[in-house]
Amino acid sequence: MAATPTREDKFSFGLWTIGYNGTDPFGGPTRPPLDVVEGVEKLSELGAYGLTFHDDDLFAFGSTDAERQKQIDRLKQALADTGIIIPMVTTNLFSAPVFKDGGFTSNDRQVRRFAIRKVLRQLELGVELGAKTFVMWGGREGAEYDSSKNIQAALSRYKEAVDFLSEHVLSQGWDIRFAIEPKPNEPRGDILLPTVGHALAFIDSLEHPELVGVNPEVGHETMAGLNFAAGIAQALYHGKLFHIDLNGQRSIKYDQDLAFGHGDLHNAFALVDLLENGGPNGGPSYDGPRHFDYKPSRTEDFTGVWDSAAANMRTYLLLKERAAAFRADPEVQEALAAAKVFELEQPTLNDGETVASITADRSAYEDFDTDAYFGGKGFGFVRLQQLATEHLLGAR
Ligand code: GCO
Ligand code: MN
Ligand code: MN
Repeated sequence: MAATPTREDKFSFGLWTIGYNGTDPFGGPTRPPLDVVEGVEKLSELGAYGLTFHDDDLFAFGSTDAERQKQIDRLKQALADTGIIIPMVTTNLFSAPVFKDGGFTSNDRQVRRFAIRKVLRQLELGVELGAKTFVMWGGREGAEYDSSKNIQAALSRYKEAVDFLSEHVLSQGWDIRFAIEPKPNEPRGDILLPTVGHALAFIDSLEHPELVGVNPEVGHETMAGLNFAAGIAQALYHGKLFHIDLNGQRSIKYDQDLAFGHGDLHNAFALVDLLENGGPNGGPSYDGPRHFDYKPSRTEDFTGVWDSAAANMRTYLLLKERAAAFRADPEVQEALAAAKVFELEQPTLNDGETVASITADRSAYEDFDTDAYFGGKGFGFVRLQQLATEHLLGAR
């Protein structure tokens, strides 16, 4: 398999990723701005299929209608010229000073109403451009101080906004779904819906849960000390993996947004294996965009920006190839069976089992040799992980 991306691989990038100018809390830009048309052309050359964007990535906050339209027209022309599509859009409810206490959940009601209007505008544009997913990352929906935010009221306001927007999508008959992106902190001290699990519970409270899923990001779950591949498996289990943000993160620290695979490579391998081979029949378990939300390091010039964009896709494809080799290795299959990985798919109870029947089954208790598990009956998980590691390293 060639590690050269094609459109069928469904790789997409945020305009804010390739367009990141290197600004961080300690220093200003280290690169000039990237024009959207150049961004689309470059992504197309590199083999990506999609571009995603926040409203403010395309037209500056506070643009006049004419300025906004001009940028939309330029984008549309670039899409027509290249065949790049817009699989997802999102709204910036975090950069402007007005959002310093959040958008949907600001204590200030005027701000909340403004946020809903801003989202409505971008939602309409997204639909016009054919986007199928609308991401909601609530980076400013949170607080630094416990006394400053009534969390239960904030969750009610969050629900109110998502319900209202869902009603609108349904009434318009639009073919678009929402994907909530969890993050534990940054920029707020604590963010509402900090992990995949929190977001899934929140979605359950909505009026139209079928319209809302999650957009988990590698770095965000890792910042919370969680296993990203395991979180993705849980999102899949609930039928809620609507979109995904791929990047790299090394442990619990600030949001690094490294290129995909440049953080926890073992977990990236497990993730690609899950996405590509974890479906019911060993096929893909997710067929949506493979979306990169990373930041080309501030040390790079534009050569480094495009190298890093290509690196994300190449690493994904290399891991896909490694995961396929792992699955095809007879020794791995044997080790998986020995580790009883397949046995977990077997229901614990017999068909129609009752308390009486399991109680009558002496092999389940009275005759079951629990002592055999002391100094025996090892699962062989370490051997399995070493086989995975050797495939990952290309040693097998
Ligand atoms: C972050 C987030 C964002 C969102 C983006 C889309 O931590 O900065 O990941 O990049 O993904 O705002 O809504
Ligand atoms: Mn992030
Ligand atoms: Mn993200």
